[in-house]
Amino acid sequence: MSTSDIDSILQEERLFQPPEHFRAQAAINDAGQLQQMHREAEEDHTAFWAGLARREITWREPFTTALDDRAAPFFKWFADGKMNVSFNCLDRHLADRRDKTAIVFEGEQGDTRHITYGELHQQTCRFANALKNAGVESGDRVIIYMPMVPEAVIAMQACARIGAIHSVVFGGFSAESLKDRIEDAGAKLLITADGAHRGGKIVELKAAADKALSLLGGNTLDKVIVLRRTGHDVPMVEGRDLWWDDATRDCSDDCPPEWVGAEHPLFILYTSGSTGKPKGIQHASAGYLLGAITTMRWVFDIRPEDIYWCTADVGWITGHTYVAYGPLAVGATIMMYEGAPTVPDAGRFWQLCERHKVSIFYTAPTAIRALMKFGDELPAQYDLSSLRLLGTVGEPINPEAWMWYHRVIGKERCPIVDTWWQTETGANMIAPIPGVTPTKPGSCTQPLPGIAADVVDEAGNSITTPDKGGYLVIRKPWPSMLRTIWGDDQRYVDTYWAKFDKRYYLAGDSARRDKDGYFWIMGRIDDVLNVSGHRLGTMEVESALVAHEKVAEAAVVGRPDDIKGEAIFAYVVLKGERPPNGVDEALTRELRQWVAEQIGPIAKPDDIRYADNLPKTRSGKIMRRLLRAIARGEEITQDTSTLENEAILLQLQGKA
Ligand code: WT7
Repeated sequence: MSTSDIDSILQEERLFQPPEHFRAQAAINDAGQLQQMHREAEEDHTAFWAGLARREITWREPFTTALDDRAAPFFKWFADGKMNVSFNCLDRHLADRRDKTAIVFEGEQGDTRHITYGELHQQTCRFANALKNAGVESGDRVIIYMPMVPEAVIAMQACARIGAIHSVVFGGFSAESLKDRIEDAGAKLLITADGAHRGGKIVELKAAADKALSLLGGNTLDKVIVLRRTGHDVPMVEGRDLWWDDATRDCSDDCPPEWVGAEHPLFILYTSGSTGKPKGIQHASAGYLLGAITTMRWVFDIRPEDIYWCTADVGWITGHTYVAYGPLAVGATIMMYEGAPTVPDAGRFWQLCERHKVSIFYTAPTAIRALMKFGDELPAQYDLSSLRLLGTVGEPINPEAWMWYHRVIGKERCPIVDTWWQTETGANMIAPIPGVTPTKPGSCTQPLPGIAADVVDEAGNSITTPDKGGYLVIRKPWPSMLRTIWGDDQRYVDTYWAKFDKRYYLAGDSARRDKDGYFWIMGRIDDVLNVSGHRLGTMEVESALVAHEKVAEAAVVGRPDDIKGEAIFAYVVLKGERPPNGVDEALTRELRQWVAEQIGPIAKPDDIRYADNLPKTRSGKIMRRLLRAIARGEEITQDTSTLENEAILLQLQGKA
């Protein structure tokens, strides 16, 4: 976001009422109804969620205790209840929705598939049996490193069905990143494919998987199931690798769900934090599912006839909650697209909306900004009249992009839900109820019922002064919250609870509330970057850089970028001499490529600047604020008297 956008957000006064025809048909469509929900949640937080859990989840054995907070901040929800997530997403729809389309899929090359609930159930059962045959048992960890195809969802559902804990690794992550996650999760089996189609090319998932496993050496992971997607040749390791088709060929369509306790881990999903090592966010079964279901109803106003398209990859939390679980749990039809939004041209999303009559479209601001650049003509070529609701997620949306989305895509007929949440929160937390909440471009509006979001000062006191920034916190536990960091309870406490004495969950964002109580997310308070809606730790990128033989030291900061939101700016000190005038294009290319191999292409630094050393305080801490200011081309207000010499400052600024 540019400075002028920030200024315009601060002055944003436009208010958009829910369009009347939308309001008239919405499930929640009057303010009194919403107020009543908030009141119930405030009067008895636990009872509010317990009531929803009884209504929305099909239980094998009902729970008696809704919230167990004895070991806070290790909260348990509905702990003595038994259920199965896959049963809730599939089996319970079979009676009246067996032939309804669950997934409409389109590949980058235009291949399409329609899968009914009956078929999805059948394929999930078969694959679940294949997993069992491969020795996977309840509680085992399974890594999913797949293209964005229906089998990715089938694999996730199959794990849930037998109580195995999946950890999906985004297909854009490198072999190194995959290896770290397999190792940390202690995974037993890996599911991948012979490749993925992306941008007209093939992403070599199997080759990356092979490399990850070779880096691991003698690990516990000894089985790999490979989906044939692209059809090109990949080497298969005898005794270890098995084609998906062969693994499922003789499997029965019948696989009774494993009834698990509500707190049984459903999945681990790795995300970046302030340190170099990504953390495994662990989610539980029932509470997570409840968050997914309630937000599908409240925020997306889901209806039986909707075609719901969330463009996120299943490798991110958005793809978990709003592709693989939430929409299926409520019996909706989802749309899945495998490829890039720009193939064959930047009209692909709009073409897909027209062709598959998408009614709810949910994407990231970075995608909107990127497609907006191509002008209004591309979307104008398609009939977008099936759309009735639009959503955004992942980063603040600048008012200009919001208005374009509203006008050019939504034709001023569709409410926009700007949803604030995180990998850790499991489901939308602060978002409009589209039939009730007036929206403001750039604001995620107000907390959902049962979500005690607040903005507090350093002492933990609620900030009531309008527009005064503070820490975004959640004051009460909620069912879809993370349970811990896999294998690291202490880090869970330190990261999210220590700051405010274990009383509030610390989101890691700063925010302000305006005079109407609307929330405006201001940015991260830690060293986490948001690059195209993807979370990246500055230290992760720094570790990758210093792992290169020529690099002695590196410091990474974010700078605003019109499309990506934030771009990655790296300051590098070489082991040898600084290149003449600070320019070495070949090395810069090499380092960018190196980071892509270490983490993934999304982590490639946009700028690399070479200096003789990095600015540090007397105690040896890197002066990040100074580096950030320089990266943004801002005036330097910091005290630079500790810098060894002025020449360094000029080098950092790219002036010498
Ligand atoms: C961080 C979480 C949860 C889905 C995708 C990202 C930022 C998320 C918004 C929004 C402003 C947002 C926050 C948050 N963020 N949604 N609507 N407005 N910022 O999940 O990778 O866990 O990242 O994304 O900074 O902390 P994630």
